Amino acid sequence: PLKTVAKMLALASVFAASFNVFAAPVEIKFSHVVAENTPKGQMALKFKELVEQRLPGEYTVSVFPNSQLFGDNNELAALLLNDVQFVAPSLSKFERYTKRLQVFDLPFLFNDMDAVNRFQQGEAGQALLNSMSRKGIVGLGYLHNGMKQFTANTPLKQPSDAKGLKFRVMASDVLAAQFDAVGAIPVKKPFSEVFTLLQTRAIDGQENTWSNTYSQKFYEVQSHITESNHGVLDYMVVTSDAFWKSLPADKRKVIKEALDESIALGNKIAAEKDNEDKQLILDSKRSQLVSLTAEERQKWIDVMKPVWAKFEDQVGKDVIEAAVAANK
Ligand code: LMR
Repeated sequence: PLKTVAKMLALASVFAASFNVFAAPVEIKFSHVVAENTPKGQMALKFKELVEQRLPGEYTVSVFPNSQLFGDNNELAALLLNDVQFVAPSLSKFERYTKRLQVFDLPFLFNDMDAVNRFQQGEAGQALLNSMSRKGIVGLGYLHNGMKQFTANTPLKQPSDAKGLKFRVMASDVLAAQFDAVGAIPVKKPFSEVFTLLQTRAIDGQENTWSNTYSQKFYEVQSHITESNHGVLDYMVVTSDAFWKSLPADKRKVIKEALDESIALGNKIAAEKDNEDKQLILDSKRSQLVSLTAEERQKWIDVMKPVWAKFEDQVGKDVIEAAVAANK
């Protein structure tokens, strides 16, 4: 009789597994480094809502914000180990996997977010989604945050005002070169450390979007923000080739649609937050706005734009030209 019971149990588990009857839902982990009240934070929560609504009992999505699970230094390695299934690093953080995405870091390349969007949705931008396929990384879509501004403990009007100051940069050689160009000292640091570095004056400044500067409270420990719009901070939502291929085709389709819709919402929030968070920072009076005249801004362009030529071979001339063309 014991044998019969064992057989029945074995049969039941085969049945359960093949029909997914008693099986626990598959957990999809989505890890990111920003706060929840940001475009990426909201996008991830929407993705969770849609997947769990459309594939109930089959898939759950666990979102880990604020570098809780993985941070800048290990999230892509974790993705390739299948310790996390979705991450959305900024386009500046893929340098170890492809040099081509560094096009997005070239200073003063895009006139505005519409140009960024045109480039991403065009042929060259779409091809870049596959630029890491040989490394096992699948690009599923771009997500906006916005244009970057400089913040510092001193007003930055002229490029020479930045001379000798230490600026935190994301792990990107282009961003380091951008600060080298004005005689500043770039320091590559993970996002999770920036507030403390600024607060303790270990560094003098940083560059970020209005929403990151607001949600991380950088403006509370920086006396000035220069409205430079000198570069873009956007994301690529990526998964691993191994995980993506492991999904049944019909489930993959539902998950991709949920992702596309979440990205659309994230992009809408990005556009709104850009103005709202700027206003919240100005209203706080903790940090003063520095506006540049057209002539002043031109000086920053003149000093920083030569960085493009240094990276032309790595990024690809064709890619840079397509990006420039997106400005119309
Ligand atoms: C940063 O490191 O400053 C940003 O990339 C953080 C983020 O994900 O928006």
